[in-house]
Amino acid sequence: MNLLVIRSIEARILMGITMFVGIMILVGWVAINEEARMQAFVRQHTGRSIERGAELYASLCSECHGEDGYGAGDRAPGLNNPHLFGFDPVGEQTVAITTANRTLVRLTEDTEKLLAEFTAAENPPGADRQDEILAQLDELEAQIAEQQAQIDTAVAERVAVLETLDTAVDNGLFPLWDSVVDIETTGDDEVEIFFNSNGTRLTQVGWAGDLHGYIVTTLIHGRPGSARVYPNSTGMAAWSQTAGGPLRQDQIEDLAAYIINWDKGANWTSEDFLAVAQYGKPLADGSLPSEPPPPPAGDNVAGILARWAEMEIVGSPATGELLYDAEFGCTDCHRNGASAPDTVGTVARIRTERLTLPQFASYTIEEYIVESITRPGDFVVDGYSSGLMPANFGARMTDQQLADIVAYLLTQA
Ligand code: HEC
Ligand code: HEC
Repeated sequence: MNLLVIRSIEARILMGITMFVGIMILVGWVAINEEARMQAFVRQHTGRSIERGAELYASLCSECHGEDGYGAGDRAPGLNNPHLFGFDPVGEQTVAITTANRTLVRLTEDTEKLLAEFTAAENPPGADRQDEILAQLDELEAQIAEQQAQIDTAVAERVAVLETLDTAVDNGLFPLWDSVVDIETTGDDEVEIFFNSNGTRLTQVGWAGDLHGYIVTTLIHGRPGSARVYPNSTGMAAWSQTAGGPLRQDQIEDLAAYIINWDKGANWTSEDFLAVAQYGKPLADGSLPSEPPPPPAGDNVAGILARWAEMEIVGSPATGELLYDAEFGCTDCHRNGASAPDTVGTVARIRTERLTLPQFASYTIEEYIVESITRPGDFVVDGYSSGLMPANFGARMTDQQLADIVAYLLTQA
């Protein structure tokens, strides 16, 4: 025991300073690594979500969309598919042609203006100006020839790319290609319009949102009438519990994460195009829902809780933690209790400090949390300013997301 006692006052001071510096270094170290820790957490979380998605996919989707996601003839379109991910095999050439065409239009207008000036009967140009105009016309002619050559090169390249993708076109890539392939009768403009509006699956079907939204919406609502378009299939069903299907919202998100993980960005190759056994077809009329995916939870607390019970919506604390930390930025305010009540201890605080107040006599902890998130203005915790906590979370989250966050907060004893 005596050995632990530091006798001299100097040694104690030294010890104190050393410990203080040590703690500061530790705190700094933790702060520096917080960002990396968060990212690692997000990666792990995404990794787990993809794994769960892979299992669901194998058991529910592979039968139609193929084990590797390449689709099957007249049964279901490929999802492991560069065209679905927005990689346009002739996009570069189409852009080059469109840009050169735009320049051509401008050069032609300039030429016409100069010709009009040259031949003006009212106010003919003088000899010097005539020479100037002729020189400018020569210059314009050369520029027009250059743009024309660029267009010819890009058209030839595009034809070459399409030839390597012959099999993919047979498998449904560019489904309406036949309608413009006869350039004699359709004209160049229509070919350009065709490529601009069929380069990717999302432009082809006219979906204005992103791919994640497209996949999630398709899974939720299904595609009524798609069996007519795919004769070897019973069609794409509505999978969401909200539409009478078997899947919860978090499972739909897992499936979307799994599918999106197939993306190769800019590194798709023609082999990838040839691997797809069936490309997406034009949709059956009215099969693409236009409303945004799932409705928001709103701010009717009793209504929200009743829906959760009725639809058996169960929150996932792990998903909730991610939403709380990353997607909705709750942690930004709720860390350490400086600008908002600390996340840690939420449950204990509610039980001992909030629910003992007369106005919350009949509340459950869950109900109190739901109200705090969707209607923060109804009750403001002592010592914090009202109006700081954003009041629109109910409009920004789905029922499932709200339930996930509540489930997470319920773990904060
Ligand atoms: C019975 C066959 C069948 C099953 C099982 C099936 N799908 Fe589909 N799916 C289709 C058909 C057919 C389409 C095309 C619908 C259309 O074009 O309107 C489609 C379309 C899609 C699309 C949109 C693709 C596009 O290019 O427009 C996605 C995403 C999708 N399915 C995902 C899934 C997932 C995930 C599962 C598993 C939960 C699944 N599907 C199960 C038949 C099926
Ligand atoms: C801009 C800062 C800010 C953000 C972002 C924020 N909050 Fe708050 N939150 C507060 C403040 C301040 C309070 C306390 C005042 C009050 O009751 O409105 C509070 C109160 C709460 C309470 C009640 C706590 C208690 O002890 O009674 C809960 C639960 C809560 N917030 C959850 C959330 C969730 C979930 C999110 C993210 C979806 C979030 N907050 C985002 C500032 C914020």
